[in-house]
Amino acid sequence: MSNPSLLILAGDGIGPEVMAQVQRIITWYGDKRGLNFDVSEDLVGGAAYDAHGVPLHDDTMAKAQEVDAVLLGAVGGPAYDDLDFSVKPERGLLRLRKEMDLYANLRPAQCFDALADFSSLKTELVSGLDIMIVRELTAGVYFGEPRGIFEEGNERVGINTQRYTESEIERGARSAFELAMRRNKKLCSMEKANVMESGILWRDVVTEVSKDYPEVELSHMYADNGAMQLVRAPKQFDVIYTDNLFGDILSDCAAMLTGSLGMLPSASLGAPMENGRPKAMYEPVHGSAPDITGQGKANPSACILSFAMALRYSFDQGEEADRLEAAVEKVLADGTRTADLMQAEGDTPVSTEEMGSAIIAALDASL
Ligand code: IPM
Ligand code: MG
Repeated sequence: MSNPSLLILAGDGIGPEVMAQVQRIITWYGDKRGLNFDVSEDLVGGAAYDAHGVPLHDDTMAKAQEVDAVLLGAVGGPAYDDLDFSVKPERGLLRLRKEMDLYANLRPAQCFDALADFSSLKTELVSGLDIMIVRELTAGVYFGEPRGIFEEGNERVGINTQRYTESEIERGARSAFELAMRRNKKLCSMEKANVMESGILWRDVVTEVSKDYPEVELSHMYADNGAMQLVRAPKQFDVIYTDNLFGDILSDCAAMLTGSLGMLPSASLGAPMENGRPKAMYEPVHGSAPDITGQGKANPSACILSFAMALRYSFDQGEEADRLEAAVEKVLADGTRTADLMQAEGDTPVSTEEMGSAIIAALDASL
């Protein structure tokens, strides 16, 4: 059998720096665990725009459709702020999500014990926190038509459309219920059924799907209350299922509970391919961080933990994913930290590469 294939799209800003550390981890798995991957690389975002005038070349899109999993770094940066909307770096990312039909975006917010002090919340509210946000990723207001800026009378009007079909709500809900079954069997669905018809439909469909998962305790919450509850008492949640826009916002909020955006991975999954693996893309939740680009300061953990999610969700290597997550946790517990995780004045941060080396050393020690 041939090796599973990975397409690396490191992208912009700190993307290439953190992805370089992931490449070292991939090599480690080949050398030490006999898990070999066929790795190819290509451009996305501003890097693709600079080379091709588009944020994602058609050939790259075609490659992404062929591989077993895509690993993405980050897109965007100030150099691209004034570009036409249609060629902004973010459009490359959205095209990948849409054309690969990656409808279930898994964003775990897990608070490592060693980092509980970094949370903006009191330690006791977040220690042991482990929630999973499932964000619908291919529909809703990000993609709904009509959209645009139009003339109306003597002024302009900006229009976006929140649109959800029953099947779009349902398939994401099934992913969320399946995850809940493997976790603590609690699912909270968030929408705005008090003001939006799409929210009413959302609540209906999720309730209908729940009949197939009688063991899962389902609750519904308005998304604004959800935001409040996330910062009031986040440990009440296990799995949260919500739409594309609310999920974008709520996942940033949940991420910060854990101390640093530099720690959080994500998986975007679609329907199973012929080989049984889901269409998949893995990316850190953090962005391109132009303020620290090129300085060797970035925390590679989120990107490395995204590869751990790939091991788990694409390659059925749950134990190896556990190993990698434990290695990251051990490094943090030992006090090895990048600049985003400095506790006191005078603490010395390690570089991106040193953090990668420490994680590899912890992997070696796990054998
Ligand atoms: C995210 C990001 C993206 C989004 C941007 C970069 C298009 O914020 O993945 O959360 O809005 O989905
Ligand atoms: Mg976001």
